[in-house]
Amino acid sequence: MLRPGCSRQFPDCGFDLAGKLVLIVAALPSQDIMDPTMSDTLALLARRRSVPPKFMGPPGPSRAEVDQLLTLASRVPDHGKLAPWRFVVIGPAARERFGAALADFTKQDRPDADEETLQRERERFTASPCIIAVISTAKPHPKIPEWEQVLSAGAACMNLVTAATAMGYGASWLTGWHSFDPRFHAALGLQDGEKIAGLIHIGTPKEAQTDRPRPALADIVTILD
Ligand SMILES: Cc1cc2nc3c(=O)[nH]c(=O)nc-3n(C[C@H](O)[C@H](O)[C@H](O)COP(=O)(O)O)c2cc1C
Repeated sequence: MLRPGCSRQFPDCGFDLAGKLVLIVAALPSQDIMDPTMSDTLALLARRRSVPPKFMGPPGPSRAEVDQLLTLASRVPDHGKLAPWRFVVIGPAARERFGAALADFTKQDRPDADEETLQRERERFTASPCIIAVISTAKPHPKIPEWEQVLSAGAACMNLVTAATAMGYGASWLTGWHSFDPRFHAALGLQDGEKIAGLIHIGTPKEAQTDRPRPALADIVTILD
C-alpha cells in the first residue's frame, strides 16, 4: 500500500509541513547523495537504476503515456536541429514476431541450439510489456559531425529511461546481439546507414532492485584549477 501521493517508483515518501512531496532519506539506497531538500528531479536521478526485463511485468505505459514518453524523448540537445533519430514502438504482435525471428536466426546460426536457448531468445521481446527502439539516423553533414548526431540519439534513449522511471515504471536501455544483426535490422525496417541506439524496455517492476556499485568520482574526474 503506497502512502498518499507516492508513486510506485517512490514508495518511501511523505509530505513535509508545506505539503511538498519529500523522500524518506533513511530508506534510500543512495542516501550518501540524498538530501530531503533535493528536488524531485535530483532525487529521481539519484535513485534511478535499470529494471531488467525479467524483473518487470504488466502493465506497461498506456498509448497516451507512450506518446508523452516519445515527446519527452525528442526534447534532447541536437546540434543543428537535425532530429538525427527516430522511434519504433514495438507492439505486442511485433514483439511475438521478433521473438520468434530471433529464435529462427539462432537456429540458422546454431542448428544444435537447445530449446532453453531458443526460449531465451523469444523472451528478449516477449518479457517486457513495452519496447521502444531508438534508431540513430546520423549521416554525414557539412557542419555537424556524425559523432554528435549519435550522441543526441543516446540522449533520446536516456530521456526515455528517465521519463519512464519518473512515471513509476521500470526501464532498461538494452541492445543485445540482434541490434547489430542485419536480419533484425531488416525486420525492424531500418534504412541504409541507420543504427539501433537502444531498445528501451519499459514495464512495472515486480520487485525492488538493489543498486550496483557506482564509479568513484576520484577515478573519473579531473579538476583543472
Ligand atoms: C548503449 C547501451 C547498450 C546496453 N545494452 C545492454 C545489453 O544489451 N544488456 C545488458 O545487460 N545491459 C546493457 N546495457 C546496460 C544497461 O542499460 C544498464 O546501464 C545496466 O544494466 C545497469 O545500470 P543502471 O542501473 O545504472 O541503469 C546497455 C547500456 C547502454 C548505454
